[in-house]
Order: sequence, then structure tokens, then C-alpha cells
Amino acid sequence: MRAADIEKDLDRVLVTEEQMQARLAELAKQVDADYADKDILLVGVLKGAVMVMADFVRHLQIDAPMDWMAVSSYGASTKSSGVVQIRKDLDTPLEGKHVLVVEDIIDSGLTLNWLLEHFETRGAASIEVLAALRKPDAMKVEIDAKYIGFDIPSDFVIGYGLDYAERYRGLRDVAVLAPHVYS
Ligand code: XMP
Ligand code: MG
Repeated sequence: MRAADIEKDLDRVLVTEEQMQARLAELAKQVDADYADKDILLVGVLKGAVMVMADFVRHLQIDAPMDWMAVSSYGASTKSSGVVQIRKDLDTPLEGKHVLVVEDIIDSGLTLNWLLEHFETRGAASIEVLAALRKPDAMKVEIDAKYIGFDIPSDFVIGYGLDYAERYRGLRDVAVLAPHVYS
């Protein structure tokens, strides 16, 4: 897809690359302090969290191992089904680890809610959540996420790892997808 065509698919930019980096640097300072004496494990949720993980881990001063999990709940739709399937499991046992789940976005919260309940059965010493974005008005379950980049409106967004039908993940800003693309 050509750059000019991508441009037409964007409604408006919500978070610029610079804003995201500045916020991640702040969050990294908090995490550095909170986990100074703890055995941290960053758990990224593929594929959306790839960008935030790559940027966040490089803002950290502490050395933080990472592992990845792949789940599916959306398919090619723009709404979460809440039915979660593990496509790729973690390589690391969670026993005794202070897990920090790194997510692109908390939308309905259904996926993360399922994941957190699932992780609790695996013996982690603690579980916290970092999400680059959160849609407070779209959440269907309450999730106690300690580290949040930006709260945004409930529109479907793309960029910074977020896709629509696997497109737009490489956009550097977070933008609202123009409705004509999916309606
Ligand atoms: P839920 O609704 O369960 O979201 O909190 C689960 C996952 O779905 C993806 N997601 C989005 N992807 N634009 C996207 O490109 C969005 O607005 C959006 N909302 C949710 C995302 O991977 C999230 O972790
Ligand atoms: Mg995700």
C-alpha cells in the first residue's frame, strides 16, 4: 500500500511518536524504582505489543528479560469476542517471577482479564500490567493496570503495533482508523 493511500485511511492522530516515547520514559523510571530488588519478567502479548516492548525495554535501566505469548480474540473484526485462545505459550516458568505484562491496548479488557486469571494459576510472585493505551469507556471488566501510557476515546485505533487486518502496525503514531476502511 502506498503512503498516500495509508494517509487517507487515517481519521486523526491521537498520540504522536514523540508523546509515546516521553510517556514510556516516565513509566520506565517508575518500573526501575518499583522492581529494583525484584526478579522481573516482561511478558509481551503478540503481535500488538511488539513496538511498545521494544521501546519500553530500552528506556529501562534495570535488566529485564522478556518472554512472549500469542493469543487471539479478535480475528479480522474490530470487536473483542472475549473467547481467548493461546496460539503461542511462554517459554519461561512463572514461579517466583514478578511478571509485568506489556500490552498495546486495553480495550474491552476481556483478553487481558482472561490472561491475568490464567497467569495467577502459574505461581507468579506478582503480576502487574503496563499498557501503552487504554480505552476507559470501552472496558467491560475492571482491570487494575498500574502503568498506563495514554487514556484514549473508544474509537478503533491503528499504528504503533496496532493493526486492522494486519495492516498499519508500522505507523509511528497512534491514529483513529477512518470508518470508511471497515464499514
Ligand atoms: P480487548 O478488547 O480484549 O482487546 O481489551 C484485545 C486486543 O485486541 C486488540 N485491540 C485493538 N487493535 N485497534 C487495534 O488495532 C484497537 O482499537 C484495538 N482494541 C483492541 C489489541 O491487540 C488488544 O490487546
Ligand atoms: Mg494486544
